[in-house]
Amino acid sequence: MSENDAMLDEGMLLEAARDARKKAYAPYSRFLVGAAILDDQGKLHKGCNVENAAYPQGTCAEAGAIAAMILAEGRRIKAIAVVGESLDPVTPCGGCRQKIREFAAPTTPILIGDLKVLRLRQTLAELLPHSFGPEYLLNEPQ
Ligand code: THU
Repeated sequence: MSENDAMLDEGMLLEAARDARKKAYAPYSRFLVGAAILDDQGKLHKGCNVENAAYPQGTCAEAGAIAAMILAEGRRIKAIAVVGESLDPVTPCGGCRQKIREFAAPTTPILIGDLKVLRLRQTLAELLPHSFGPEYLLNEPQ
């Protein structure tokens, strides 16, 4: 674990995700999710899921947090927390794993929590092994 990792306040990040979850707009699934990103500048960015009547067009909490980070000119995810209430830990969906991949390292921690505790701590590479990313586009054989 590097010095930077040691400085990560997991409890604070989970609390930020819980706070974001309170704002979720999920009248169709009634499944509220919050996410919080700590960027490499030490700034916090929150997101919640936002559904709509055309069900597949809703957006996930992680996507909202990433959009907030980009808007604030953050570029790298140092850690991300996702909070939902379910029997199993609410891990990011496949699409969100790829979205996180764009801005994170294989070792970036993904904290999965519920309203009370941290349920699971994974790295991006654990959740999305052998992933495709931006560097592949620069490596095309001639
Ligand atoms: N959801 C998220 O916000 N993040 C995830 O990683 C899993 C699913 C949302 C999408 C939808 O609004 C609701 O949870 C039920 O799938």
